[in-house]
Amino acid sequence: MELEDLYREARKAAERSYSTYSNFRVGAALLCEDGSVVTGTNVENRSFGLTICAERTAIAAAVSGGRRKFRALAICTPDADYPVCLCGACRQFLSEFAEPSMPIAFGHGDSIGARTTMGDLLPLDSLHELADR
Ligand code: THU
Repeated sequence: MELEDLYREARKAAERSYSTYSNFRVGAALLCEDGSVVTGTNVENRSFGLTICAERTAIAAAVSGGRRKFRALAICTPDADYPVCLCGACRQFLSEFAEPSMPIAFGHGDSIGARTTMGDLLPLDSLHELADR
């Protein structure tokens, strides 16, 4: 599956966002090792701190479904006028299941607006990486 196809799944997932407090919809789509796609959306709460980001929702859904290895992640933020990157908590959460080379795509419109990798978002995440320097 192409990254653009994965991004389209993230875009569809954003439509299911429960973001009644911020009105900021986010959709995430994970391409799993077996080729399946698992999506997530942000789920807000009246106790604001309980809000879950779309990325962590997708990861939790994938792991709950028995998928622990991911090939790519796409994120769509249709209410922003620029691509929005993962928060620090989501970077840490994702790093548990992602190789540093895993591609991550972001966008707010019809197609991907920016690309990066897990390793660029959270460098020096393991003792091995530190040992290599
Ligand atoms: N949010 C995400 O779901 N993912 C991100 O990468 C950034 C922020 C959500 C949390 C909250 O529901 C809304 O966006 C505004 O911060």
